[in-house]
Amino acid sequence: MARVPAQAGPVSVSAPAATGTAHQDVLSQAAAQVLSDNWTGASTVPSPRLYPHQWSWDSAFIAIGLRHLSPERAQQELETLLGAQWADGRIPHIVFNPAVALDAYFPSPDFWQSSTAGRAAGAPVARETSGIVQPPVHALAALLVHRSDPDASRRRRFLERVRPALIAWHDYLIDCRNFGGHGLAALLHPWESGMDNSPCWDEPLGGVEPAPAGSFRRADLAHGEASDRPTDLDYGRYVGLAARYRDGGYQDAGAEHAFMVEDPGFIALLILSEHALAEIAVELGLDADRHRSRARRLTTALVRRLWSEEAGIFLCRDVRTGSTLAQKSVTGLLPLVVPELPQSVAQALVQTMTGRHFGLGSATRLVPSYDLQSPAFDTSCYWRGPAWFNVNWLLERGLRHHGMPELADPLQQALVGTAGASGFAEYVDPLTGQTHGTVNFGWTAALVLDLLAQAPNSRPGR
Ligand code: SER
Repeated sequence: MARVPAQAGPVSVSAPAATGTAHQDVLSQAAAQVLSDNWTGASTVPSPRLYPHQWSWDSAFIAIGLRHLSPERAQQELETLLGAQWADGRIPHIVFNPAVALDAYFPSPDFWQSSTAGRAAGAPVARETSGIVQPPVHALAALLVHRSDPDASRRRRFLERVRPALIAWHDYLIDCRNFGGHGLAALLHPWESGMDNSPCWDEPLGGVEPAPAGSFRRADLAHGEASDRPTDLDYGRYVGLAARYRDGGYQDAGAEHAFMVEDPGFIALLILSEHALAEIAVELGLDADRHRSRARRLTTALVRRLWSEEAGIFLCRDVRTGSTLAQKSVTGLLPLVVPELPQSVAQALVQTMTGRHFGLGSATRLVPSYDLQSPAFDTSCYWRGPAWFNVNWLLERGLRHHGMPELADPLQQALVGTAGASGFAEYVDPLTGQTHGTVNFGWTAALVLDLLAQAPNSRPGR
């Protein structure tokens, strides 16, 4: 494991961040090594043992860091993923590597059966993938990859080649997942949020019939602490939900879905990426208005439908019951990345982030994934409390966009310092910085490279 000691002492998020140039060089090299070790020749695995295939939003974050090492490899990362896009526009959350043993990860290709069960929805015939999706950060990644070397990008006609796939992806989400109306793409599985076992899903998952214990095997427990991972009951529900989606041919419209949720973080990333599509159109001399107005419409709907003035945070909505879910999760803070978020909402979000529920700057140096005050908060269990590097990278970006460098700077330092000191952890205890999940994790290394490459006042997209 590449574990780089923080400059000023023990592993702790409250330790001063690593800032010296020599230390940064060591950290950059260690991060580059992780990305090189996790590279398969066409894309990057999040973790060779725990996640040995290509994951959708992981690849987008990985490309954002890879662009600093090799813009061409970053382009390839995204193009490999887009090569497995379904004809209906969905980008699957996993693209399986046929060279990896079936029992290395579950649910494996023989569970998803995409090339047969997904045929009517347009799954590729030559690649096996999952049938669900993950948050849409890909257009943002494509824009940032382009900007890292615009000449090389233009020579390879990178943006021209990826743009139609990215538009089809957003069209799929906005049109085919519009179960609650207003174009707010609804999720059909907790894994689609990327925040698998967030307490937000406890209630809507409660009525989901779990797959019988013994009908599936948990490959994840062979590589991680059980206390860091979702419970068997939750896992049974994930498997049951996915199996029913598969058995319905991965059809969205006209099917009965036992889980349908609008997730503010997912929608915020869709809006951010729709703005990126507008900027990509400008780069190519094409009309950007369609994307700008769609981003604006979605922003209005997001605020109208999911903002809670009273709670000071965006809340998820269970589309089946029509009710918002009371849980305060970091997904409800992610709309801070939305460029045209009303300033009063942005300010309220920052108050919540720095207040007692998330403690940024007092109890925590990285924003936890869940409400510190809730009995469901857990410092080590997957998305029930630990701090994640991709989410904090996004929040750091949001803080800068909304003109709060006094909060963004220490968050940037804590991200870099904690990532290095934790061995590029998958996630960390938000109170102590202790490593959880796996180490040498792809997006953690990639996003450190991105943060180190940016002088404090020249972050991309400003
Ligand atoms: N994140 C999920 C897992 O742990 C689903 O992709 O496998």
